Amino acid sequence: MTLIRSPLRGRLALPTVALLAAALSAGGCGKPVATFQANLAYLEVQRRDTGNVADATMQNIAEVVEGLFGTPDDPHLPRLESVDCNEVLDIQLLQMAAGSVSREEVGRPHGLYREHCVHCHGISGDGMGPTAGFLNPYPRDYRAGLYKFKSTPSKLPPAHDDLKRILYDGIPGTAMPSFKLLADDELAALIEYVKYLSIRGQVERALIAEAASELDEGDLFVSAEGGEDNRDLVAEKVSSVVARWKSANDERMAVPERPDYTDEELAESVRRGRELFHGKLAQCSKCHGETALGDGVQNDYDEWTKELKPAAEGFRETFVDNNLALAPRHAIPRNLRMNVFRGGRRPVDIYWRIKIGINGSPMPAASPLLDDEKIWDIVNYVRHLPFEAASEPPQKQPSYQRDRL
Ligand code: HEC
Ligand code: HEC
Repeated sequence: MTLIRSPLRGRLALPTVALLAAALSAGGCGKPVATFQANLAYLEVQRRDTGNVADATMQNIAEVVEGLFGTPDDPHLPRLESVDCNEVLDIQLLQMAAGSVSREEVGRPHGLYREHCVHCHGISGDGMGPTAGFLNPYPRDYRAGLYKFKSTPSKLPPAHDDLKRILYDGIPGTAMPSFKLLADDELAALIEYVKYLSIRGQVERALIAEAASELDEGDLFVSAEGGEDNRDLVAEKVSSVVARWKSANDERMAVPERPDYTDEELAESVRRGRELFHGKLAQCSKCHGETALGDGVQNDYDEWTKELKPAAEGFRETFVDNNLALAPRHAIPRNLRMNVFRGGRRPVDIYWRIKIGINGSPMPAASPLLDDEKIWDIVNYVRHLPFEAASEPPQKQPSYQRDRL
């Protein structure tokens, strides 16, 4: 089967759902083979921007990526001199999560990802499993390597413990469930598989981008004839993706100790936090609204959607109708009066959200001018917000509102 199904040159051979159904229906006459879907949405974006990346080059990228990472039933790790992938991914754990669902006699499970995650996150980790279209927010597309709720600096991948916490607690207020009832080694295997899908997806994206910007028409990354090719570029891309995942665990942001407030000091901190929330330095109310109901700027998109340029002509026909992307939705700032915190409700979780921002969403990292004391003040205010009346008599309103009445 050819992996190239260019939306510009005819219909897709197989929509994701059909592919999944084929991949999941075990038994019958011979086991169906599960395949990773090529990242055609990203290919399309690059083609639209540069006009480059011939079908033959994309076919070559698909082969190279399969050579490096294997298939959903038989994952393996790139064997390259320049980088030791075993330092980032454990192949034995990966094998527990990969493949079709089964348990060996000794009770060691297989196929955990397909058992627990695939119907939302998709076999390739594209966030487009059969259930995905019905959910809001949509499940994460792991292939860009972007994660929202983490403790590492803005553009770095999450640390192992960030993913562990997500699997343990789920993401409250969304469809992402908690998996805390799974055994520790099963959780570890699933974390490993998420990282694997991300690293695989990021390498695929990097090669597509490279083909679009650097390669000449018809050039290949690896040629079977053993002639001139661009193997070094492939190794370089894999190394840089793997190196970022490796460094993430060492780069967690240190959290300064939260002051030990008396009741009065806490009330004072909440008051300062309220002023900051509405002030120019923090600009929280620009998006979250004067009321903090999340009714400020509402017409922005998250990064996954934004890069597809949903306003471009023919977007729906090319992307949505061809099952390359889910229908775009705006990224709505959180209603902070709901007392639901997707990334966790401990003070430290909210500290990280404000300090680092929410990667991939419009929520920015805090201005460097907001020192730690100010961030704790805002954290205290955010935690207090659900219990503060939205509408108080004018004399009880904070001064910034009173002045306007
Ligand atoms: C019922 C659907 C559903 C299932 C099943 C599901 N997820 Fe999710 N998952 C989601 C949604 C929805 C989000 C996005 C939430 C958001 O953006 O706030 C998400 C997000 C995530 C994230 C991203 C967290 C971040 O910080 O950005 C990870 C990692 C994740 N899921 C892993 C898994 C794993 C592993 C499994 C299986 C063990 C799984 N999910 C099963 C719906 C699901
Ligand atoms: C440019 C718009 C924008 C600005 C400015 C902004 N936010 Fe957000 N914020 C968002 C969006 C969008 C989300 C939802 C992100 C998501 O989960 O996808 C969000 C989510 C949040 C959350 C929810 C975290 C969770 O775990 O559920 C908190 C808390 C928050 N913002 C606080 C703040 C504070 C405090 C400030 C000011 C320092 C601020 N925001 C500034 C857009 C913004």
